[in-house]
Amino acid sequence: MADIIKLENLTKRFGDLVAVNNVTFGIKEGEIFGLLGPNGAGKTTIINMLLTLLKPTSGRIVVSGLDISKNHEKVKQLMGLMTQETIVESDMTARENLMLFADLYHVPRDQVQKRIKMSLEEADLVSFADSKAGKFSGGMQRRLGLVKAMIQEPEILVLDEPTTGLDVQNRTTMWQRIKELNKKGTTILMTTQYLEEADELCDRIGIIDHGKVIALGTSSEIKRLAGTGKLLEIIVNPEDVSKVVSLLKSRFGIVAMSRGDRITGVLEKGDDREFTKISAMLDKEKISVLSIGAHLPTLDDVFMKLTGSGMRDTTGEMQGGRGAGMRWR
Ligand SMILES: Nc1ncnc2c1ncn2[C@@H]1O[C@H](COP(=O)(O)OP(=O)(O)O)[C@@H](O)[C@H]1O
Ligand SMILES: [Mg+2]
Repeated sequence: MADIIKLENLTKRFGDLVAVNNVTFGIKEGEIFGLLGPNGAGKTTIINMLLTLLKPTSGRIVVSGLDISKNHEKVKQLMGLMTQETIVESDMTARENLMLFADLYHVPRDQVQKRIKMSLEEADLVSFADSKAGKFSGGMQRRLGLVKAMIQEPEILVLDEPTTGLDVQNRTTMWQRIKELNKKGTTILMTTQYLEEADELCDRIGIIDHGKVIALGTSSEIKRLAGTGKLLEIIVNPEDVSKVVSLLKSRFGIVAMSRGDRITGVLEKGDDREFTKISAMLDKEKISVLSIGAHLPTLDDVFMKLTGSGMRDTTGEMQGGRGAGMRWR
């Protein structure tokens, strides 16, 4: 599949700060591409350059074969955008919001009413069509923001953190709508700081940190970067940590790391027998184990491995097992 968007050696400096550092990657026609990274990683800066709202310090962006620095207007017609902050005009009704965008993006006059009707249906806002958007809940505003971005029927949809701040139910609804739009053939570039969201939605993911893309590929390709085996995680009392680390090395050849009372290592073979043996050994050594487990690598493990730090949010914004409820901030 051809690349519909190409970022080539893209760099953006703000004074001394290199917000985007020599980034190169392509987005294939028809895919959902996710730019995943913590707050301040450079995601919005990339989006703003793509939309020609910011000029790159160096490098270039090519969309559908056009260098965007020379084809602003054409490129604008190809892309629909939902930004991070301003999603809807709050003192306009849902219908007026859609009209405004239809106008801005030169939707043919004879199609405006039809598209507005369809958008309201898609956003499940028919009965709120003439209510002020400022009165809408967060979920309703995002839904309106999404159909607004789609009103010109763009080939490419750009979504900057489309679900940040939404509750679980609204987030799941957004995911559904994003998938549906993609099924109809829209290429989607989205940013997110939710690991689970990238895992769930994106065909390919670029992990970005401090302006650099540090991993790129499908979710399973990226997870393999953390190793092919399972990851072992043991929590013991602080005074036992170093003893456990050296036992893992001497008895099993496992090079384990510790942070506080948490010890992690890789079970290369990924089999459960080794795990059972380790449990038995700890028991025999009379080490009181607060928790022990082994799991397949998650995107968080990859981030931890590549950057030496992982960021987990335990506020429980998302539901689910391990890998969910994590967010970079
Ligand atoms: N207009 C600006 N002037 C100066 N610094 C900026 C500007 N915009 C963004 N930055 C800085 O660039 C870095 C990347 O920001 P941003 O692209 O917004 O990150 P993200 O969207 O991934 O959270 C941050 O350190 C941010 O403070
Ligand atoms: Mg941002």
